[in-house]
Formats: sequence, C-alpha cells, structure tokens
Amino acid sequence: MAQPRILILGAPGAGKGTQSAKITEEFGVDHITTGDALRSNKEMDISDMDTEYDTPGEYMDQGELVPDDVVNAIVDEALSQADGFVLDGYPRNLEQAEELKDMTDLDVVLYLDVGEEELVHRLTGRRLDPETGDIYHVEYNPPEDPEVEDRLEQRDDDTEETVRERLSVFHENTEPVIEYYDEQGDLERIDGEQAPDAVWDEVKATIEDTA
Ligand code: AP5
Repeated sequence: MAQPRILILGAPGAGKGTQSAKITEEFGVDHITTGDALRSNKEMDISDMDTEYDTPGEYMDQGELVPDDVVNAIVDEALSQADGFVLDGYPRNLEQAEELKDMTDLDVVLYLDVGEEELVHRLTGRRLDPETGDIYHVEYNPPEDPEVEDRLEQRDDDTEETVRERLSVFHENTEPVIEYYDEQGDLERIDGEQAPDAVWDEVKATIEDTA
C-alpha cells in the first residue's frame, strides 16, 4: 500500500497534534503542521506581500489567521517533498481548501469533534517540552519526570483571551471547511472527547479501514 495521505481537522485544542504524533509513528508518514512551521518563522518578513502586519507572529499572538499566500506556499513546498503525510492545521478556510484540492488528493479526512468548554480547558492547561516537542497537560497528562516538569513552557497563544479569539476564528472560517468535506461524503467524524488512547484506537481503525 502507498503511504496514506491523511488530513486531520478539528478546533484548536481538539487533539490534532497529539493524534498526529501517533499517526506519524504508526504509519511512518510526515507530519505537516502549519502551526509549527509558522512558529519557527514567527519573525519572517512578509511585508512585501501587502499584508496588514509585517510578520506571521503578529497574527498568531492575536489568534488571527496568517494570510493565505504565506500558508499556501508553506504547505505546497512541504507536500511536494512528502510521500505519505498527516496534514494538521490546514486548510482553515474555504480558499485554502480549494488550494489544497489543486495540490494533492487525500485518502482520509478525519474530524476530531470536541465541545467548546473542554477546548478552553485543554488549551489553557497545555504545556510543551521545548527539548522534545512532547505535548502535556497540567491535569490530564502531566509528565512523570520532575526534570521535564521544570522545563515545560506555555505557548504564547494559550492564554484564555487568545484561546477565545482562536475559537471564534475557527467557528467563522474553519467550520465551513468541515461542512465542505462532509458534503462531499469524505468526513470521518471521531469523538475527540474520549481519553487520548480511546481517540487513538478510533483514529487508527478509521485510517486502516479507509486508506
Ligand atoms: P496551530 O498550531 O495549528 O494551533 P491550533 O489549530 O489552534 O491547534 P492546537 O495546536 O492549539 O491544538 P491541537 O488540536 O493540536 O491540540 P493538542 O493535541 O495540542 O495554529 C496556531 C496559529 O497559527 C493559528 O492561530 C494561526 O494564527 C496560525 N495558523 C496555523 N495554520 C494556519 C493556516 N492554515 N492558515 C492561517 N493561519 C494559520 O491538545 C491540546 C491539549 O489537550 C494538550 O494539552 C493535550 O495534552 C490535551 N489533550 C489532547 N487530547 C486529549 C484528550 N483526548 N483528552 C484530554 N486531553 C487531551
């Protein structure tokens, strides 16, 4: 079987990063994530693209979307180098979904479904290990090693105010993308409110059945 081409959709905090790490390990595909790519290029000068702000970081710290031209170029480049992949964080609006259609076919479109207050709780409690990139949660998934616990960091956009703005951007821009794939009959809906291992069992079985 060729390597699967997987799209994972979900609101901020739905568990896309958590499940993508498992997919990468299990299926040996690349993890293409626009959030991480943009965080590594927060200070990139995009002023020649006629944008409102001069860097991606200024959009991200306010919970707004980075302009399509910047993100489309990142995804196009990453997809051209990947065999199989799990794409996380893109498309986030209908224009990006149209762009993606011209870039690649998809074998599976997963949607992690989680309610609003649970999303806020997950994001404000999320902590990241800067050395390994591993994702933790102060309550649901704290690290066992106190040395790891001491070095954990919170993402700049995980404050409650920015989280609420990111969720409102999701409702306005990204929910139509979910409807777009649903109308095409491609959407595999997963109950993302279960414990991480139970979500993973469903994600893995869906990929094996569909790809
Ligand atoms: P991005 O980095 O993509 O953030 P996001 O979509 O908001 O998603 P997150 O990474 O916050 O959440 P996640 O679903 O990966 O959850 P996680 O697994 O960590 O984007 C950031 C910014 O970049 C955007 O705001 C925008 O500015 C810009 N951007 C990115 N892509 C763009 C695009 N295409 N166009 C324009 N701009 C773009 O889990 C969250 C927490 O919950 C963790 O603590 C985890 O331990 C915990 N958890 C996970 N699963 C479970 C579970 N089942 N039960 C309990 N806890 C769980």
